[in-house]
Amino acid sequence: MALNKKQIKRLYRKRALNYDFTANLYYLIGFREQKYRHESVAMLNLKQGDTVLEIGCGTGLNFPILFKEIGNDGKVIGIDLTDKMLEQARNRVRKNKWDNFELINIDASEYVFEGEVNAVISTFALTMIPEYEKIIRNISRALEPGSRFVICDFKKPEKYPDWVIDLGVFITKPFGVSLDLGNRKPWKNMEKYFSKVEVKEIFSGFAYIAVGIV
Ligand SMILES: C[S@@+](CC[C@H](N)C(=O)[O-])C[C@H]1O[C@@H](n2cnc3c(N)ncnc32)[C@H](O)[C@@H]1O
Repeated sequence: MALNKKQIKRLYRKRALNYDFTANLYYLIGFREQKYRHESVAMLNLKQGDTVLEIGCGTGLNFPILFKEIGNDGKVIGIDLTDKMLEQARNRVRKNKWDNFELINIDASEYVFEGEVNAVISTFALTMIPEYEKIIRNISRALEPGSRFVICDFKKPEKYPDWVIDLGVFITKPFGVSLDLGNRKPWKNMEKYFSKVEVKEIFSGFAYIAVGIV
């Protein structure tokens, strides 16, 4: 069963301190996390000075990649449900002396867009939010025509026997993944609200990067 928000918060409060290290352990099974992060950010087509929103930003593992694209004149808004994950993100921002990051402890389904946002990204977070369709719709309405929303996340692969899928769920369970999340297909919801959507499978179909263009 998918975790509820209280359980998600509890899980990520526990994981926060070691999150970056444990996320790296997935390299052992061939999950090229940094490569997927770079590919996802590249698909945003950011330029220096842009404002980008990251949904479920966690400890801020995408921040260095985003900062490189938007520079000192741009802005990153990171939102996350779990205070302890954001604490780690704040430490990262402080250590790097970035002064153009705004971090907000909020449920993404309650986030209200204010001011201009040029692009939105979410990596390994959106599928676990039950209101993901509402979030996708809000994003499509907030962005200007031509602007992009990129999702990178796990998904249930089409072509494998059940035992392989069960193994995939077992391996990702420490991060709140459950089999029923396989029924959530955010990239399909994207097709309802964005004029163009491209989806690329990664990690043998166990994950994907989708870009929606308004
Ligand atoms: C697997 S972590 C991914 C963190 C980061 N995006 C990354 O790529 O490393 C999932 C994150 O989603 C956040 N999250 C889960 N539900 C959320 C919600 N409803 N609103 C905002 N953030 C949420 C969790 O707190 C957690 O930090």
